[in-house]
Amino acid sequence: MSIPSRHFDALIIGAGGAGLNAALQLASADVRVAVVSKVFPTRSHTVAAQGGVNAALANVLPDNWHWHMFDTVKGSDYLGDQDAIEFMCREAIPTVYELEHAGVPFSRLDNGKIYQRAFGGQSQDFGGDQAARTCAAADRTGHAILHTLYQQNIRARTHFFDEFFALDLVRDKDGVISGALVLEIETGEPLLIEAKATLLATGGCGQVFRTTSNAHINTGDGCAMALRAGIPLMDMEFYQFHPTGIAGKGMLITEGVRGEGGFLVNKDGERFMERYAPRAKDLASRDVVSRSIVTEVKEGRGAGENGDYILLKLDHLGAEVIDKRLPGIRESSRIFAGADPIREPIPVFPTAHYAMGGIPTDRFGRVVVPVGSGSEQVVAGLYAAGECACASVHGANRLGGNSLLDILVFGRLAGKDIIDFVRENPYQRSVDPASLDEAMSRLTRWDQKGGGVPAHQLRADFRKCMEDHAGVFRTEEVMAEGYQRLCELRDQFKDARLTDHSKVFNTARIEALELQNLIDVGLSIAVSALHRKESRGAHSRPDYPNRDDVHWMKHSLYYREADRMDYKPVRTKPLTVESFPPKERVY
Ligand code: FUM
Repeated sequence: MSIPSRHFDALIIGAGGAGLNAALQLASADVRVAVVSKVFPTRSHTVAAQGGVNAALANVLPDNWHWHMFDTVKGSDYLGDQDAIEFMCREAIPTVYELEHAGVPFSRLDNGKIYQRAFGGQSQDFGGDQAARTCAAADRTGHAILHTLYQQNIRARTHFFDEFFALDLVRDKDGVISGALVLEIETGEPLLIEAKATLLATGGCGQVFRTTSNAHINTGDGCAMALRAGIPLMDMEFYQFHPTGIAGKGMLITEGVRGEGGFLVNKDGERFMERYAPRAKDLASRDVVSRSIVTEVKEGRGAGENGDYILLKLDHLGAEVIDKRLPGIRESSRIFAGADPIREPIPVFPTAHYAMGGIPTDRFGRVVVPVGSGSEQVVAGLYAAGECACASVHGANRLGGNSLLDILVFGRLAGKDIIDFVRENPYQRSVDPASLDEAMSRLTRWDQKGGGVPAHQLRADFRKCMEDHAGVFRTEEVMAEGYQRLCELRDQFKDARLTDHSKVFNTARIEALELQNLIDVGLSIAVSALHRKESRGAHSRPDYPNRDDVHWMKHSLYYREADRMDYKPVRTKPLTVESFPPKERVY
């Protein structure tokens, strides 16, 4: 079969904040860049980011990038690489100003400066009073940023392939990544996009869990493509459960609610966070708040008929503040919880939200892999940025507001590095037909009927199993049982079939392709979690309740082949300042 092909200097897979900020650098430098997105770009999941982006602008309270760095290292439970964290926190300030100048409609203070709110885990002066570091556009910050970046890309003439699904990376005869095979969703026709450099910016994988704040599109596609290309995923056991998803449904209720003065109560009306985090209370870091909520429910203090959620109270803020600062969550709460927060509390419970781990990169977005005896190598021509990547700025637990920052800072830098790369490597490499065949087989596999379980059923079973066995608290027993079941589901996938309506809607085929990605990425989380025998950040094991810096101060690397694990050291040395040595982490 002959497959049509297109040629570009750079290919970006994913049109969220990371992909679009990278594309903008490239298009502005007259590099021929294509962006492939499985949805219309402004529907990428960055659009759903609510509370804001962190930068130590000091518009509301005193602040400093060095305090931001301290909070981020502490928030990471000391697993984040301190050179990358320093870099991100310093870059935060010019990055936000660049966005402001690009037209992002941030909320404003009376003096005209960008509005900043308090978020969890933020402090002044290295662990002192609460800081206010999160730059916000009401509670629709991601929407404001994504639309601005998209418009800037249109102006810069970035080439978009909207509603194209990336099947797999392709290589040349020397094994160098030279683009990707993609599928036009509307027609079902494959297209080869050849490029000198390829950036994976496919976002998160929250759909591996049943209850999630993530959109239907967040299926870990980039991470799974990397795994299939033999690249390991780093620190995947550290998956963040956001404390305040709408109970039973999972939609996000921003941490900004607590930043504006909202608080959590149990069925007795008690502000229970005072017991778990006496100083920071409701603005402790996310892993701490999520564990506290689950503990309250497990110990019988949950609200509602079944005692299975907690209440988020904000009526005392008044209608004016809620409508000005939190209009989106008022709307979501009314629609999905049937509760108007102006009058009544919102029922909430932790929801799967964010992967701290991902494709290992350096801070220029270059994918790096171990090559034995402790050394590492850059994978020529392959980049990753945003949630699918792991530049190691979040370690074991990410602070709210550092996700938009990560995608913007490292998306931008990846774009800049690709400009140099394509100038130094001006020749297009030809794709190895064997590599193309391999990528095509992912598609043609669904032409066969298969007698097994329908793909949609398998998807539901897999997500339920992940929720039951890789949640907020994890023990050996629960995880081992989960792993066995996940392996069975992975086996069932080999003979899975499309449902009958696939004859009508080719979206069933896309969902089946996504299912393979979910399985690969879900297994990376489950296996990495099973191996790490300590509690650190979001990885909380009642059977190993303490952090163990002697044995586990290291990054994990999961390989798809035989579910193999490897480890590498944490970089504790920052670029220009002193290290923050590990300490007990209290809020
Ligand atoms: O709560 C929130 O608004 C989420 C922000 C984040 O994940 O950074």
